[in-house]
Amino acid sequence: MNNFEFKNPTKIIFGKGTIEKLESEIPTDAKVLLLYGGGSIKKNGIYEQVTKALLKVDVIEFGGIPANPEYSVLMEALQVIKDKGINYLLAVGGGSVIDGTKFLSAAAVYDGDTPWEILTKNVKTQKGMPFGTVLTLPATGSEMNSGAVITRAETKEKLAMGGPGLFPEFSILDPQVISSIPERQLVNGITDAFTHVLEQYMTYPIEASLQDRFAESILQTLIEVAPKVIKDPTDYKPAADFMWSCTMALNGLIQKGVPGDWAVHMMGHELTALFGIDHARTLAVIAPSHYKYNFEAKKEKLAQYGERVWNITEGSIDDKAYAAIEKTEAFFQGLGIDTKLSDYTKDYEGTAEEISKRFTARGWKGLGENQDLSPDKVEKIVKMAY
Ligand code: NZQ
Ligand code: ZN
Repeated sequence: MNNFEFKNPTKIIFGKGTIEKLESEIPTDAKVLLLYGGGSIKKNGIYEQVTKALLKVDVIEFGGIPANPEYSVLMEALQVIKDKGINYLLAVGGGSVIDGTKFLSAAAVYDGDTPWEILTKNVKTQKGMPFGTVLTLPATGSEMNSGAVITRAETKEKLAMGGPGLFPEFSILDPQVISSIPERQLVNGITDAFTHVLEQYMTYPIEASLQDRFAESILQTLIEVAPKVIKDPTDYKPAADFMWSCTMALNGLIQKGVPGDWAVHMMGHELTALFGIDHARTLAVIAPSHYKYNFEAKKEKLAQYGERVWNITEGSIDDKAYAAIEKTEAFFQGLGIDTKLSDYTKDYEGTAEEISKRFTARGWKGLGENQDLSPDKVEKIVKMAY
């Protein structure tokens, strides 16, 4: 196992009926900006629960943060923060609203020329404006990590940011919120969380047995609960397992002491930026090709995953590793997720070259756990995913 330091300061408040606990988490003298998305919270009762718990504090609302949080919309919210003297942010939503709130937390204290630099110059925010979250969609893990991904439609860019000062102070996780989530978003959440685990696991063996088993247990739990939450999202038990699995998949714990890949996400983000494909679906498009292309480097972990997660017991390391890739792709397809770029767009020709060009322009010479995935290799992987 590699050396590591681990600190995750986010307080998790998990369970049935926990949204009312908001009341005791936000300082009474706070001037709060309540941030939300396209309005699902106004149809499913979450908005009422939140506003009831906030009766004692001064609150201004900002709705309309779109999926793949858009820079220009967030700049409007930043203006509200400045004009109204806001000193506390509350995100009520999924990854998009939470990520947008993290950007605002950083932008509110940023003293550079333009907040977009936080993304292009990789500014690590040490202390942002404090914020909490009420999670409405299990998927990204953003409720317990310090990263965010922001989109800029004008330039068709989608870039990541983060910093130790961008952990939520608290996150409220009431699994009952999933009852109103459309199937499309439920399967996105399962696929995203599943891939988060793969990014931190599907590298090379490093004898970090506990980390491996943490990762495998999250994958097994997601596989087990997937059909149940799709069949009946009001069923509390699988909803709770699903929600906690998504948080645990990306709160930093399973990444400690082990190499990380994350190339699937880097390529996937470009597909969202170029075509607007849902984040999770881009991962299902890239992952199978990525694992086939990097087969030699990853086959031992692929085979271990095949054995332990999919019960593949027959054949050589190569056989098991290959079967594991096929199982993974079939799992995504079984959720109703298409795994080829051409399933989403007819205009896929030239995509691989464009992504490779973008990576070169950004100076990204080598992605992946071995930092050897150069833009020309990225081009090949994306082409395999057509
Ligand atoms: O906007 P509203 O009306 O609220 O509707 C949302 C949205 O349309 C809806 N929804 C959310 N909760 C609901 C609900 N509908 C009914 N009932 C509920 N309880 O679901 C739609 C999608 O929401 P969104 O927040 O976009 O989804 P998700 O949580 O999958 O977030 C995706 C974003 O997170 C980023 C992605 O790139 C993408 O921009 N990611 C963030 C990460 C992080 N911060 O750690 C890591 C991830 O890898 C990912 O990149
Ligand atoms: Zn993701």
